[in-house]
Amino acid sequence: MSDLSTANTTASPVLDVEAIRRDFPILSQEINGKPLVYLDNGASAQKPEMVLDAMDRYYREMHSNVHRGAHTLGDRATTAFEGARETVRSFLNAQSTREIIWTRGTTEAINVVANGLAPRLKEGDEILVSHMEHHANIVPWQMVAERTGAKVIPIQVTPEGELDLESFTSLLNERTRILAITHVSNVLGTINPVRSVIEQAKKLGVLTLVDGAQAVPHFRPDVQELGCDFYAFSSHKLFGPTGIGVLYGRAELLEEMPPYQGGGEMIERVSFERTTWNILPYKFEAGTPPIAEAVGLAAAIDYVEGLGRPAMEAAESALLQRANELVETVPGMEIIGTARQKVPVMSFKIAGLHASDIGTLLDQQGIAIRTGNHCAMPLMDFYGVTGTARASFAVYNTLEEVEKLFQGLQKIQRLLT
Ligand SMILES: Cc1ncc(COP(=O)(O)O)c(C=O)c1O
Repeated sequence: MSDLSTANTTASPVLDVEAIRRDFPILSQEINGKPLVYLDNGASAQKPEMVLDAMDRYYREMHSNVHRGAHTLGDRATTAFEGARETVRSFLNAQSTREIIWTRGTTEAINVVANGLAPRLKEGDEILVSHMEHHANIVPWQMVAERTGAKVIPIQVTPEGELDLESFTSLLNERTRILAITHVSNVLGTINPVRSVIEQAKKLGVLTLVDGAQAVPHFRPDVQELGCDFYAFSSHKLFGPTGIGVLYGRAELLEEMPPYQGGGEMIERVSFERTTWNILPYKFEAGTPPIAEAVGLAAAIDYVEGLGRPAMEAAESALLQRANELVETVPGMEIIGTARQKVPVMSFKIAGLHASDIGTLLDQQGIAIRTGNHCAMPLMDFYGVTGTARASFAVYNTLEEVEKLFQGLQKIQRLLT
């Protein structure tokens, strides 16, 4: 890893973004004859050498199946794999590695919980989600509601894109069983006050799940401080590989929940008369797990934590601030999501332009953004749009790239209007 922070004359360290960029080989290429400007980090972030090297080394030097114990490679793979679990435990400040379950991603993690809590639900019970959820934190609850007779109820969002706390308080009642809420909105960038809503919900004995998919790339959650029962995130948005994610769950709840899938690894003993489950966390990890991916995710966490979060947050908020300053240079541009607490995500529309045209024409200039409904159709309905354009920034983006985005938008506007 490069030397990433340099001493500043002020108190907080600043990041050497050029050095960081050199850690991400994919960024140095040209797209459509222009230097790549990658602003689709909310969908998936790029991977540093440290992650690529860790996975490469794993496959070259230690790959075998885990927890089999019969030979040296099996031991090496198991040590690396369980070491990765400890890295995640420490990252989330969970009490025990028993509470860290590998999943395929946030989506699967939420499905594990929805399925696992189904036996607790009955007709008339209520599951609160917010209007700004990703489909991954709506649909699994709708599926479980269908099975159990429970209802999924949306907490309103304000026009600025903040969680409407009055709506939350008025919806919370003795029928509420589960509160499933996103830490950060993938469309709006809003950072929700999850700690205080969890505190309120817990007073009524409500179980709480936080969707951390968009939070972990920007700050480190502390599950004990948040007081949540479950926390879910995906590796690929946190500079790690695809195919793996994490479910944190409080041990006593995980103990009680039925397994999600059946097969190897999740069993203790199988017979045709009676099969019993393995201990935590393996009870929720049927089949051969994503071993190299776990190693890669641990490397990604080490990388991000090595950057120093305060410096990283300062660099990211400078990107968002610059983007906000430049909005007025594009007539008719409107930002969707102006919450007071935001990560560097900017959803927007431009009068007279279709979001998908903006995406295509920016791509011709080497600039990658995301367009569409962002798997958040209820939120699109709330804002009365079918989709938005979204630029989502990461720590390796530069102020110059933010400026290129706006120059690109001005060019499109000249061309199409
Ligand atoms: C807020 C949020 N939740 C859940 C997900 C689903 O993540 P994954 O597709 O990695 O399971 C995403 C992905 O965009 C997201 O932004």
